[in-house]
Amino acid sequence: MCGIVGYVGSKNAQSILLEGLHRLEYRGYDSAGIVTFQDGDACLLRVKGKVAGLDSLVNDSHRDDSIGIGHTRWATHGEPSERNAHPHNVGDIFLVHNGIIENYKDLKSVLETRGYSFVSETDTEVLTALVDSIYQQDKNLFAAVSEALHMVVGAYGIAVVAKDNMDEVVVARSGSPLVIGVGEDETFIASDPSALVGNTDQVIFLKDGEVAKCTRDGVTVKDSADQAVEPIVETIEMDIQAMQKKGFDHFLVKEIFDQPESLSATLAGRVVKDQDLLRLGGLNMSEEELRAVKHIFIVACGTASYASMIASYYIERFADDVVIDTVVASELRYRSFNVPENSLAIFVSQSGETADTIACLKEMKQRGVRCLGVVNAVGSTIAREVDGGIYIHAGAEISVASTKGFTSQVVALVLFGLVMAQAKGMSIEDVRPYIDELDALPEEIAAVLDTKNEEVKQLAADYSHYEHAFYIGRDVLYPLALEGALKLKETSYIHVEGQPAGELKHGSIALIDDRFFEVAFVMDNELFEKSMSNIIEVQARGGHVIVVTNSSREIEAERVVRIESRLKMFTPLLFNIVSQLFAYYVAVNKGNDVDQPRNLAKSVTVE
Ligand code: M6R
Repeated sequence: MCGIVGYVGSKNAQSILLEGLHRLEYRGYDSAGIVTFQDGDACLLRVKGKVAGLDSLVNDSHRDDSIGIGHTRWATHGEPSERNAHPHNVGDIFLVHNGIIENYKDLKSVLETRGYSFVSETDTEVLTALVDSIYQQDKNLFAAVSEALHMVVGAYGIAVVAKDNMDEVVVARSGSPLVIGVGEDETFIASDPSALVGNTDQVIFLKDGEVAKCTRDGVTVKDSADQAVEPIVETIEMDIQAMQKKGFDHFLVKEIFDQPESLSATLAGRVVKDQDLLRLGGLNMSEEELRAVKHIFIVACGTASYASMIASYYIERFADDVVIDTVVASELRYRSFNVPENSLAIFVSQSGETADTIACLKEMKQRGVRCLGVVNAVGSTIAREVDGGIYIHAGAEISVASTKGFTSQVVALVLFGLVMAQAKGMSIEDVRPYIDELDALPEEIAAVLDTKNEEVKQLAADYSHYEHAFYIGRDVLYPLALEGALKLKETSYIHVEGQPAGELKHGSIALIDDRFFEVAFVMDNELFEKSMSNIIEVQARGGHVIVVTNSSREIEAERVVRIESRLKMFTPLLFNIVSQLFAYYVAVNKGNDVDQPRNLAKSVTVE
């Protein structure tokens, strides 16, 4: 949520900051701003809306400044407006901030008594004034930021400059990510390494509580106790290609079509079919430790939580001595839950930066639970804080709606379940069908994309005018329905609910009339007849039903999308490709901002 960039060097700061903000815009896009300066003369440019609005402002007021900071915002305190946009300026200080300062009202009252007045509704302006009030004492920016942060309660990633100090950008983090890119005679700052691609691959991931002074010559870091810390410079591998649309109209559809490749990357070296082999390198757990696991918490938010639910349905089938609790992070945090003996906690997150998931990770670590991560973003907070885990290697996911991340999360979790079950004695004969299907899955997904794209596009054209919808399914198709509903609602703004098919008649069916359409997922298995009954009940009340199925049996529904596949267990992941394409095309038909839907941000770094 919100993106931060900064630069100090000898190049044009405005263009470096703008390029970084464009890359980070998926994190928030309510308003944006940059400040650059030279010899006490600052150029502050801010707009309501997207970063594109800044491009023209920069053209109009081009500067040669070589130091500055910038921000793209997802509003927390105060509406999206130019006034509330970052950077905020008080006195000599300009500051950009991700996160929330919880005690800002108390700080504001104190600062008002010292003569400060405020023009925005933000907590960030208060923090800016606080830094300025200390900075004015001896003009030491590094010390002023550190001292101010000792007085702050909350979460933050910040970048701060003083207009009379041409040499320093001071940055700090506590609960909100911040990365420093080390170049030759220049230093870059970003809240996400993707903003640094093309500039440097040498990075320092700041840790919670650390404050850093970034200059042209290097970086000085101190911890929360003001003790000097030797920064660790790491090399990151990031593919700039993954951040391009590759000829597609939107990142969303590009990422849907990425899936054969991204899933192959998830599986590479982990499922070795010709050797009947499954292996996961980074778990840091012995066979004995895997054998001992009796209880698993899988903790996640949004789409990652639905991926977790789906995986838990699979894992329960072959690890029958393990109880799995799939929990939404924002709920688990505030529950007084028990941790049974031999528990393991798995944190699933595409970004690795989701605040609620991180908070649960901290809680579990405090309780002494072994924690694993299933993460896409390399070097992210969750990836760094867990005891071990699985990188899904799906490649950069830019569109706010998660697609390829979801598919790889399900598969990575199932892989973990199989590795654990093997340690517990699952025979290779029982594992082999899973290996075969997982190995075939990328090709099967490619076939669905190839054969169903046009059909789903037409389907979307026919149903885009509806305002209400249900997604239903039974067994593993129930969490799939939840995911399908989320994908459609967040991209199309249609009111959509996901339901277990058997639950409709316990209340929700009261809503059904001909203003509703319903997407029903139906597998050709022992639940087929029961699912058909649920569909007939909906149709009897005027609902318009679209069935997505792998069955060739006769089905009475308004539309039937048939998926032909030799898969038996992982067919639901093929049904989900239909859901993803459907959500995409409905959003396009409605003229929505497909990659950056209203009110959302890619990475939810506030609780
Ligand atoms: O980065 P994470 O996987 O932790 O993100 C979790 C959710 O915020 C995310 O899946 C969200 O629900 C997406 N907008 C869904 O498409």
